[in-house]
Amino acid sequence: MDQDSYLKLQDDIEKEAVSALTEIASLVDLESWRVDQLGRNGKVTGLLRGISELPVDLRREAGGKANSLKNALTEKYQAHKSYLEGHSTIESESGTNSLDVTLPGRNIESGTLHPTTATVREICKVFESMGFQTIEGPEVELDTYNFQKLNIPEDHPARDMWNSLWIDRVLPDGSRPLLLRTHTSPMQIRTMESQNPPVRVVVPGKTYRYEATDATHEWQFCQIEGLAVDKDITFADLKGTLEEFARRIFGDKRKARFRCDFFPFVEPGAEVSIDCFKCEGRGCRVCGHTGWIEIMGAGMVHPKVLEGVGYDPEIYSGFAWGMGAERIAMLKHGIDDIRQFYSNDVRFLKQFSR
Ligand code: DAH
Repeated sequence: MDQDSYLKLQDDIEKEAVSALTEIASLVDLESWRVDQLGRNGKVTGLLRGISELPVDLRREAGGKANSLKNALTEKYQAHKSYLEGHSTIESESGTNSLDVTLPGRNIESGTLHPTTATVREICKVFESMGFQTIEGPEVELDTYNFQKLNIPEDHPARDMWNSLWIDRVLPDGSRPLLLRTHTSPMQIRTMESQNPPVRVVVPGKTYRYEATDATHEWQFCQIEGLAVDKDITFADLKGTLEEFARRIFGDKRKARFRCDFFPFVEPGAEVSIDCFKCEGRGCRVCGHTGWIEIMGAGMVHPKVLEGVGYDPEIYSGFAWGMGAERIAMLKHGIDDIRQFYSNDVRFLKQFSR
C-alpha cells in the first residue's frame, strides 16, 4: 500500500467510527462498536498491523497517526460509555440484566381529606339538597356580631356560655371589640344584614373557645350554622329540616328529639338529640345510658334579632341551628377523643379516606 491510500484509509475509518458512535444509544451496541473498531480483529487494530507493509521511511509518521487515532477513539469510547451509564433507559439496558423491569414500582403517596373536612362537606351537601346555600365568614369577629346583635349584651351572664379569646387591640375609645369567634352564629347577622328574606344558608367554619382541652373539648373546633328566614316559617319547618338531616347522616331509622333549651338569640330554643344508633335507644356507653345523643342547639330566631337587622318580625320568622362538626364525625365513626382531630397523627387521619 502506498502512503496516500494508507492515509485515506485511516481517514475513512476515523470518520465512519465517529459517526457510528454518535448513533449509539445502548451499552450493548457500544460494546459491538468497540469490538468492530478497537477489538483484536477491529479496523483500527488492522490499521496498526498494516504499518509493517509500508515503506520503511513512511512507517514512523503513519504509525504515529494510527496510534493517535486509536487513542482518540478509545477516549471517545470511554466518554460515551460514561454518558450511557448515567442515562440508562429500559431499551438500552434490557440486554445487560442490570435493570429488572419486572420489579413493582414505588407507590406514590396521596393525601386524604381530613375527617372534619369530609364531615363538613357531607353535612353541607345534605342541606344544599334542601335548598340551602353554603357560605363562609370571618374567624376574627367583632363583639357586636359575636354577641350584641345576637341578643347577648355586654356583661350579660349568658356570655359565660362562651369563653372568649380576645384580640389584644384596644381602640381609642378604650374598647376591645375583636375576638376569635366563639361560634358561627355571628354569620346569621352578617347574612341578614346583607340580604333581604328569603334566607337559607349553612355556614361551616372554625370557632375558638378559651377552654382547657379534654376528650370532648378543644379550644379550636368547627361548627356548622344554619339559618332559614321567610314568611310563615314555623317550628314544624325546623323539626322537618333537622329530622331529615339526622336521617340522611345517621341512617333512615333515626328519630329526633327536641327539648327546651336556652340560647339568647332564639325563642323558643331547643336541644336536638337523636336516638342512639349504637343501642337503638336502649342505653349504652355511647349515649351515656340515656338512649339519646345530643347533636345540636336550635330554635326560632328571636324577634329582637330580626328587628336588629331590619327584618319585620311581624312579617318574617325563621329558624336557626348550630352543631359541632367534630362531634358529628365522632358519632359517625365512633371516635372517642376530639383531640385526635388536631394532633396530626397520620395513622388516625388516614382511616377516614374513601
Ligand atoms: N351558637 C350556639 C353555640 O355555639 C349553638 C346554637 C344554638 C346555634 C342555637 C344556633 C341556635 O343557631 O339556634 O353554643
